[in-house]
Amino acid sequence: MNRPLIIAPSMLASDMSCLGVEAKRAMAGGADWLHIDVMDGHFVPNLSFGVEIVHMLRRQVEEATLDVHLMIEQPDRYARTFIEAGADVLTVHLEASHNTARTLKVIRDMGCRAGLAINPLTEIEHVLPLLPHLDLLLCMTVNPGFGGQPFIIEVLEKIRVARRYIIEQQLNVDIEVDGGVNDITAGPSVTAGANVLVAGTSLFRQKDMGEAIRNMRSKATEASSAG
Ligand code: DX5
Ligand code: ZN
Repeated sequence: MNRPLIIAPSMLASDMSCLGVEAKRAMAGGADWLHIDVMDGHFVPNLSFGVEIVHMLRRQVEEATLDVHLMIEQPDRYARTFIEAGADVLTVHLEASHNTARTLKVIRDMGCRAGLAINPLTEIEHVLPLLPHLDLLLCMTVNPGFGGQPFIIEVLEKIRVARRYIIEQQLNVDIEVDGGVNDITAGPSVTAGANVLVAGTSLFRQKDMGEAIRNMRSKATEASSAG
């Protein structure tokens, strides 16, 4: 698998009393992207960041690629606002109520990379026909809503199927894993075909985040050259 490996620390696990400082700590530690979780209390039973936080982080870390994960109903109503606030990658859920193909088109037409996320129990067959219309497929490896949950290993099979399809169809799509990604689960994720690793707890809760990122990168690189 020769797509570049991307490590995206999830701001949800950062010290929220100083988000800008935490974002800079992640970038200085070697993060490739910053992952920002937006939750509405309906699509998932939790509330988190809104558009103002994306805007603030855009100003604080101008060089960062902001990977915004919308865990909200009716994401089509908010897509434009998040892109205007500074999202570089905008991911919406297949399970949310909206016309998925139309939302993905709106995102791409605005010059933003379009991502589509699926929950652990959603079958991969539902997204295969949509792959030509997106830039990133996010396979959730926990049920969305909270950080710190254990990685659901059964999702790896869906990643294998999606990566195979992407290669066969010669598509240009990243596969992202999100939830419970750490030193142990990073390798198998990459071997299955993921190339974007989102990690909250396992990176932000380390004193030396640079070392944690380097360690995860070396585990993932090892797995990808072995696989
Ligand atoms: C969960 C979020 C994740 C979360 C991951 O719904 O989408 O991005 O921050 O946290 P960890 O890495 O702690 O499982
Ligand atoms: Zn997320």
